[in-house]
Amino acid sequence: MKYVVGNWKMHSTAAEGKALAEGLIASAKKAAHACVVICPPATLLMAAGDWLKSTEIQLGAQDCHTESKGAFTGDISAPMLKDAGCGYVIVGHSERRQYHGETNTMVCRKAEAALAAGILPIICIGETLEDRDAGRTNDVLAEQAEASLPQVANSEVIIAYEPVWAIGTGRTPSLADIEDAHLALLAFVKRERKLEQGRLSVLYGGSVKPDNAKDILALPSVGGVLVGGASLNAFDFSAIIAAVE
Ligand code: PGA
Repeated sequence: MKYVVGNWKMHSTAAEGKALAEGLIASAKKAAHACVVICPPATLLMAAGDWLKSTEIQLGAQDCHTESKGAFTGDISAPMLKDAGCGYVIVGHSERRQYHGETNTMVCRKAEAALAAGILPIICIGETLEDRDAGRTNDVLAEQAEASLPQVANSEVIIAYEPVWAIGTGRTPSLADIEDAHLALLAFVKRERKLEQGRLSVLYGGSVKPDNAKDILALPSVGGVLVGGASLNAFDFSAIIAAVE
């Protein structure tokens, strides 16, 4: 089973979102080995819960707060996301880290909040181009994983490896580089966190498209993909779902 997660970011009205979700239902049903998750913006979560009822598509959110409730204007807590029907939440996306100053510590607390609410966090990490050029990729990933991942022994853990320079740029690392980073992460997390076998998935994200999805998903160390731009088109996202099979 591999994850195919669509991150809609700040896109879609209700009408657009409904059409997009409906365009994915048949592909998700056909894909016996894919766990399909869509992460619409917060305004659409309640409605999306309805659109996805009795389908094979799971619902996720794009962020959550560290606290379960309180005077935090504009924020949404993990229990609220659970209440809206979410089973997953993306935390620590590089756009949140970059534009909202989220640190590894905050990301870790958000992941803990999600787990406490019964939602699986998809914890994003990734190196910048500067890190990669300096040959620091694996060190940066280990550092981010160490500080962003909660100490969970008994829950499934989902990490999304998203090189910052690959997001929305049409550029991707080579398959060998993806495999390298994923194997290093899997080894690191298994060593540092007492996880049971098979309960850790590392997804790849960053310019995943129909034409590269099959090769990326075929890598044994890749537990799925986190897709931005191509998840906004039902035809493209369906092709990526089909690439799991
Ligand atoms: P992209 O975005 O697929 O548009 O590169 C991926 C992401 O930001 O999760």
